[in-house]
Amino acid sequence: MPVVNPMDLSGRHVLVTGASSGIGRATAVLLSRLGARVTLTGRDADRLQQTVEIMAGDGHRAAPFDLGAIDEIPAWLRDCAQVGGPLSGLAHCAGVQVSKPIRNADAAFMSDMFRINIASGLALARAFRQRGSAVEGAGIVFVASASAFVGQAGNVVYCATKGAVVSAARALAVELARDRIRVNCVCPALVDTEMADRFRSTMSEAQFEEYLQHYPMGIGRPEDVANAIAFLIADTARWMTGTSLLLDGGLLAG
Ligand SMILES: NC(=O)c1ccc[n+]([C@@H]2O[C@H](COP(=O)([O-])OP(=O)(O)OC[C@H]3O[C@@H](n4cnc5c(N)ncnc54)[C@H](OP(=O)(O)O)[C@@H]3O)[C@@H](O)[C@H]2O)c1
Repeated sequence: MPVVNPMDLSGRHVLVTGASSGIGRATAVLLSRLGARVTLTGRDADRLQQTVEIMAGDGHRAAPFDLGAIDEIPAWLRDCAQVGGPLSGLAHCAGVQVSKPIRNADAAFMSDMFRINIASGLALARAFRQRGSAVEGAGIVFVASASAFVGQAGNVVYCATKGAVVSAARALAVELARDRIRVNCVCPALVDTEMADRFRSTMSEAQFEEYLQHYPMGIGRPEDVANAIAFLIADTARWMTGTSLLLDGGLLAG
């Protein structure tokens, strides 16, 4: 019997948001190595092209788009599915993290954070279930955060947005099962990306060293998250929906 690789994505079309940087870039690269044809998005066209250049195979397409334009998402995603074919997966990696104590969190700040971190994902799910956008059994993966489960002073609004992502994935899993669409999320703790660099710059060296003590296995690499996302999109997770996969180097176990 030939060995069948359940993570083989040959011939499948996957949309990756946040593909110009960090976790999204690592995800686009891994999915391409698994055989997928990837549509990549983010706002920065040059950085999206840099990702395309390190991907395997061909047929990939950079489609720059600002996910803050919530009401434009369904038409934009329909175009992506028309150009590249119905989607087998969506890895929604785009997100923003800005540290701010609650005393300084005004309505505009809250609205911006919720718009990118949760409303964009809901609109993408709405778009994904449109007729012709996705194939049967397709998988959506949202990148939430371990911040959904652990409180952090100065990071309240971000934590709230990521808690909302976990809840949204669970409810969408139930609602979209009738469309044969699976919805899961991954919840990484600190991963070595530009976002982590910005987070780190809000602390002194001593504070950061103290923070690292909470990570028995150290902080993560973007590829650690990409592996889990690929697993949830591929046939390996054919029977998984509504799950939140914690990726935290042991942070919450301690
Ligand atoms: N790094 C961590 O420690 C960590 C931990 C837990 C969860 N996460 C989550 O993982 C995801 C990826 O984070 P990362 O560390 O890879 O961050 P990153 O390196 O800062 O990348 C963020 C990505 O989001 C995109 N993005 C931001 N605003 C956008 C908008 N309005 N429209 C379209 N794209 C937008 C950016 O693209 P453009 O700049 O090109 O628009 C970029 O590709 C985020 O959801 C984050 O909350 C990260």
